[in-house]
Amino acid sequence: MKDIEYGIFMPVGSGGWIPSANIPELDGSYEYNLEVARLSERFGFDFTLSQAVWRGYGGPSKHFDVNLESLVTGAGLAQATQDIGVWSTVNTAMMHPAIVAKMVATQSQISNGRTGLNIVAGGNRVSETQMGLGRDLDSSVKYRRATEWVEVVKALWTEKTVDYDGEFFQLEDCQSDPKPVGGIPQMICAATSDTGMAFVAKHLDGVLFEGTSRDSVVSTALRARRISQENGDNLKTYCVFMIIPGETDADAQKRIDYYNEGRDLIALGNMAREWGAVSHDATALNPDNEGWADATAISTGTVAGSPETIAEQLADMIDTGDIDGAVFIMPDFVDDLTVLGEQIVPLLVKDGFGRVAAA
Ligand SMILES: Cc1cc2nc3c(=O)[nH]c(=O)nc-3n(C[C@H](O)[C@H](O)[C@H](O)COP(=O)(O)O)c2cc1C
Repeated sequence: MKDIEYGIFMPVGSGGWIPSANIPELDGSYEYNLEVARLSERFGFDFTLSQAVWRGYGGPSKHFDVNLESLVTGAGLAQATQDIGVWSTVNTAMMHPAIVAKMVATQSQISNGRTGLNIVAGGNRVSETQMGLGRDLDSSVKYRRATEWVEVVKALWTEKTVDYDGEFFQLEDCQSDPKPVGGIPQMICAATSDTGMAFVAKHLDGVLFEGTSRDSVVSTALRARRISQENGDNLKTYCVFMIIPGETDADAQKRIDYYNEGRDLIALGNMAREWGAVSHDATALNPDNEGWADATAISTGTVAGSPETIAEQLADMIDTGDIDGAVFIMPDFVDDLTVLGEQIVPLLVKDGFGRVAAA
């Protein structure tokens, strides 16, 4: 048992994470995210995290068609909150590190040092190439560029002037002030491959991942831990968990069935085509294959049931996978977040998984 960090993956994208016609209205508006951030702070969560998504998946549910920009959202949320960490996501294939260095340093003044950064090295061939960016998605290229990106951003945050002659970035007497409040912010990366995780272990503080089942969560967490140990052993592991609470396990299952009944096969198909076989279980399916008919709106990795059932299953995964942080998504970020904050997290705390924020 150990203290862990609790975070909320903000609903900056319309539809949340459920490509279905049958979900609560999540409009991806700033107003809604503001309410969620304030509620998250009230419940004592450690941080909010927003994704960097530049294109939706369409379909009748218009899944993710509306998405707020992550750093700008973070600046607003930082101003509107007092204690909670505010983490944003940046794609290293899309934004120059000198621009991001200054945006993050500015945000860290607004938040008084509560800013964190999640970087992604890219992978969605449609959303990046629509801008003529990130055409080369080969893992070694992606992470060579991400390595340079991180070296540059850290240098700009700590040095008066930076000269850098890399394969992807060239800087000449490049200056960036102000520096971030409190030094280099906490930096994590959503990497899934061994190459990506090794990059994170060498250069950053934490890895963000998800799983399609209890066993895949545990094995990914332990794989990240092993890669961390091979590279200095400083990595924190953060898992994204979709939770669907109900008063009873049967009530939660009814919710899942209802969301799945409204599954948006067009959005799920676009997701599969754009990503290839990563992240979401549906993405492994090819719409032309027989298995496609079984694609579900709700990921098979979802943790559902009564608050007690959810707490028990989370405790098992966190404990067995030696996970350092839990980042939550849910169908409704007000009602379900209230169940998480008032019932599920207190059960986990009672079980020995205290809050880092409270420690
Ligand atoms: C939990 C999680 C969150 C992610 N968030 C984003 C995101 O906000 N924006 C994005 O472009 N990619 C996101 N990705 C995808 C990653 O950029 C990356 O393509 C994926 O993890 C594949 O890892 P690899 O590069 O090691 O193969 C996310 C992935 C995971 C697992």
